[in-house]
Amino acid sequence: MTIQKKDLGAAVLATEYAVRGPIVARAQELEKQGKEIIYCNIGNPQSFGQRPLTWLRQLLALCEYPALMDLPLAVFPADAVETARAILEGSRHGMGAYSESEGLRFIREAVAEFIRERDGIGADPEAIFLTDGASKGVQTILKLLLASPTDGIMIPIPQYPLYSATITLYEGRIVPYYLDEADHWKLNRSMLDDSLRAARAQGTRVRAICIINPGNPTGSVLDEKNIAMVLDFAREHGLAVLADEVYQENIYLPGDRFVSFAHVLEAMGISDVSLFSFNSCSKGFLGECGVRGGYFEYRNVPPDVAAQILKLLSVCLCSNLAGQVATYAMVHPPRSGDPSYELYNREKKAILEELKLRAALLVEGLNKIDGVSCNAIAGAMYAFPRIMLPVGVSDEEYCMALLEETGICVVPGSGFGQAEGTAHFRTTILPPTEKIRQVVEKLSAFHESYVLVKY
Ligand SMILES: Cc1ncc(COP(=O)(O)O)c(C=O)c1O
Repeated sequence: MTIQKKDLGAAVLATEYAVRGPIVARAQELEKQGKEIIYCNIGNPQSFGQRPLTWLRQLLALCEYPALMDLPLAVFPADAVETARAILEGSRHGMGAYSESEGLRFIREAVAEFIRERDGIGADPEAIFLTDGASKGVQTILKLLLASPTDGIMIPIPQYPLYSATITLYEGRIVPYYLDEADHWKLNRSMLDDSLRAARAQGTRVRAICIINPGNPTGSVLDEKNIAMVLDFAREHGLAVLADEVYQENIYLPGDRFVSFAHVLEAMGISDVSLFSFNSCSKGFLGECGVRGGYFEYRNVPPDVAAQILKLLSVCLCSNLAGQVATYAMVHPPRSGDPSYELYNREKKAILEELKLRAALLVEGLNKIDGVSCNAIAGAMYAFPRIMLPVGVSDEEYCMALLEETGICVVPGSGFGQAEGTAHFRTTILPPTEKIRQVVEKLSAFHESYVLVKY
């Protein structure tokens, strides 16, 4: 007998992941029929033509195929060859062997050094795990924390659906807390208190709070005060903190800067809040989504719990080795005076400048459309504009109609969560600048005619 859908578990059936939902499936269908689609649904920079950084790809190429190091011509710069040799030596068995489950020690040491330099705090390589993208790390920690069906995790609304999907799949409870659209999607204490109170009133044991900073889909960037407020809240209520910091390099507004949760935790001298911080090779200026590199670091986690995390990760043996090497390239860029330094910085700057320009262009264009309003994109890779829709029209219908009419593929706000009575969509800022202009023009024309017809 073949397996039937009715035999599948309720949690599997209830799990939803909007970023690759029915609108994207329809976009693919239309594309097969010859329609030009502008995919704005997912933060996948290289799918829009962003070029990989030379440094990272040289290290990957050399580690994957070490014979390249012995070519008679000096095809690769000396620092790339030297670094690749060091990685291979550190790995002991090369790229084709499993590593230890937590990832190569050599690379975890480099991650620890990166955190020390970034934050001016201590960091322990033993508290760092290399993972297949940040997603795998987030899922591992959610699995660890969700011990019973009444356990819940606080997640922002709007959120990145990795969180809602994984909590649903692991049969935990989603505890939503709302971000304040009127205040640039910032967090405020009273909204956190409300959320916790409501969850507890329903008998939920709240285990942790997840924060996405910079925010997806909101594009907001938290300052030190905001982060301290969250840590204080977590301490007062006995919650662990999951800090999703995959967009830490994507900060666009002058005056803003990335502040890590680890830095603030240490500055506040907090030793009774467990913190899990996630980073990835998929975002920032690397955009290496396909390589699946990432890591997480924990603080204030007792050894017997850390042993359980290691056990969970060892079920999959280890994260992929190419991802581990990419993570090394991310945390160990060329230094001043190295042969690759100048090119690396030129490539990095060009990508970040371009993203900043596109972010500004998109927001400006969206805000010119009557019935659309969008907060400034301070960070990350997305806009999450609010759309005024005629009564009875859902954001899914709007996004599907937008796709059919214009070929622009965005994700309805309902896939990320939104305040009752509001409608949004999420678009990335990743299409090339010329395409962003087209997106804005097409959207504007579509919105006006759609709203007119529906009224
Ligand atoms: C907020 C956030 N966290 C985590 C991820 C997962 O990234 P990856 O698993 O590719 O590292 C994404 C991807 O878009 C994201 O937006």
